[in-house]
Amino acid sequence: MDKKIFQPIKIKNMELKNRIGMPPWLNNPVGKDGFVDDLTIRWFEERAKGGAGFIMTGAVDPRPACWKSHGQGLAIWDDKFIPGFARLATAMHRHGARLGVQIAFLGPGFGQAGMSPSPWPDEKHAKDRMSDVFGSNIPIGSVSIENIQQYELDAVAAAIRLKAAGVDCVELHCAHGGATLCNCAISPFYNRRTDKYGGNWENRLRLPVETIQKMRVALGEDYPILARISADEFLGEKGITPETTTKYVVPALEKAGVDCFDVSQGSILHTPQGIILPLYYPRGCFIHLAEAVKQVTKRPVIGVGRILDLDIASKYIEQGKADMIYMGGQLCADPETPKKYLEGRPEDIRLCIGCRIGCGRPACAVNYDIQDHPIPLTVARKSKKVLVIGGGIGGMEAARVAALRGHKVTLMERDSELGGMVSALARDAYLAEFGNFVNYLTTQMRKLKVDVRVCKEATADDVRELKPDVVILATGSSMVMPDVAKGKPGVISIIEALNRQQEIGQRVVIWGLVAASMAISLADEGKEVTMIGRGGEDTLDRDDPNYRRVWVFRKLTDVNFPRETPEAQRMHNPKVLYHVDVEAVTAEGIKIVDKDGARSILPYDTFIISRERASNDAVLKELQGKVSEVYQIGDCAKVGEIKDAVWSANEIARKI
Ligand SMILES: Cc1cc2nc3c(=O)[nH]c(=O)nc-3n(C[C@H](O)[C@H](O)[C@H](O)COP(=O)(O)O)c2cc1C
Repeated sequence: MDKKIFQPIKIKNMELKNRIGMPPWLNNPVGKDGFVDDLTIRWFEERAKGGAGFIMTGAVDPRPACWKSHGQGLAIWDDKFIPGFARLATAMHRHGARLGVQIAFLGPGFGQAGMSPSPWPDEKHAKDRMSDVFGSNIPIGSVSIENIQQYELDAVAAAIRLKAAGVDCVELHCAHGGATLCNCAISPFYNRRTDKYGGNWENRLRLPVETIQKMRVALGEDYPILARISADEFLGEKGITPETTTKYVVPALEKAGVDCFDVSQGSILHTPQGIILPLYYPRGCFIHLAEAVKQVTKRPVIGVGRILDLDIASKYIEQGKADMIYMGGQLCADPETPKKYLEGRPEDIRLCIGCRIGCGRPACAVNYDIQDHPIPLTVARKSKKVLVIGGGIGGMEAARVAALRGHKVTLMERDSELGGMVSALARDAYLAEFGNFVNYLTTQMRKLKVDVRVCKEATADDVRELKPDVVILATGSSMVMPDVAKGKPGVISIIEALNRQQEIGQRVVIWGLVAASMAISLADEGKEVTMIGRGGEDTLDRDDPNYRRVWVFRKLTDVNFPRETPEAQRMHNPKVLYHVDVEAVTAEGIKIVDKDGARSILPYDTFIISRERASNDAVLKELQGKVSEVYQIGDCAKVGEIKDAVWSANEIARKI
């Protein structure tokens, strides 16, 4: 492959076979007491085997007491951890990949002291409504100069152990705001010390600079040392900005001995969604930060952030925006991404959908095999005739797995297109990435020669005629229309709204606090939107992970985020009304009552219902006693999320 992304690159004495890497990722399996174990090796090996040339571990805290207190990630605070890393390095080398270890002094985001005194964490922020809503525990504390100097020595000792283990390079984690002490040190927002570790840029950079310098002396000239930086903390002038990164941070770290810059962004407690980017952000949205760093250094620069597509990643490299690309979410969703691309079958790559529900341990919505002990996908002992009823993502995933195992599969779908509810969700501008998975599965149906019959509502007669050995029911769920709204003009379910089955009027009321992204997209279209629900603020977008909820909260609430960040612009349309119930829907409007009994009327053109869903299990009743093996998966078994449908599909299809 002549694309530059598949060309080798050198960082000091380390040659990488290509420029695709797995970024630091804490959610990989870790053995008891922080040791590398077989599951750790399997996790990293899957990504190396899949073709990534460079694998970085998640944050490894080199300080014995701190590691013991937070217990996060692998440990390297003693020589006893060396053999584990040696095994890990050998496993990576077996596949031609190189291994790096991220050394991190974890900070307030992990319950450890920061570089206080600072304006944060303090009384005001400890009472911040963000922590009320998201439950973050914000510790208050500071480190002494003696602590700092000991930490530097701990990092050096860790780096020496890692080099001895055969690890190819180390990276000092200086990014992600409150996640690391080094970022807290550099940032004018987090560090208000007045001693030699605070005050001006030189002093605030002293902790990472001294650490790198000491590592360089201990590791020798040729051993590669990388640094991860947040090139923009999204705190405006009060924090690290792209300008101060290029003016102060990069030159100082380069002079200290950094050989490669890994350019990230954000702060774990203030802008976590800027680090672990959900699907609301455009792909590659922070590559300009890597590009800015490249302007001021000749050292290789790694770009990261919602990069899924190797064509685009390759373009970034050709355009000189970065020298290497990290793909995190994507190598979770499909560790074989580089291999499949090189083999000329990009259509087999399962793209990340950006849902951020687990990203590794414990889960990935679209990759069942990511867990510690998946049921293995083996060739079936006997090829069976399998009928899957329902062509949503659960049904298609079951059909895919069953076909891969050698079963003969027919899939019947009532609608004219495949994808079910997920296809509908993907019509929301902010959820378009969900469509990646529908496209992937639809392509696999064709490639695996699944007999797909659309516009076909399966009946007991079809089953009698087809005589399948196994029936898998994947008929999904439907929105339950509350009696008070049933049959009233302008009332539609969220699925009908997403599919634009009816025109959506100018004044929209959405009943249910979980459809936040739809409210935001309709407001973007210029509609006047009101969301109402029985729950309080804590139930807003409740079913989504915090990385997504933070984005929603920024748009819809006054939860106390630092106002300086560009995304802190709260939208004034839509409105959200909490603790509200609907009493009646009349020609005048929707009659609502709040928790104090106060009544009002909301005029509307379209009333969208986004509340409970109920399983569609009518076919099961029809089939009872007619087929020996009948299984239910996804929403038709139990209403849940994308991950539940995919995982339940695998749990059945891998056993039949
Ligand atoms: C589960 C998870 C764990 C992560 N752990 C770390 C970490 O230990 N150190 C770090 O610097 N970044 C960490 N990150 C951030 C990633 O390295 C990466 O920068 C981020 O996910 C954006 O890349 P992506 O959009 O390709 O996933 C983590 C991200 C996720 C989702």
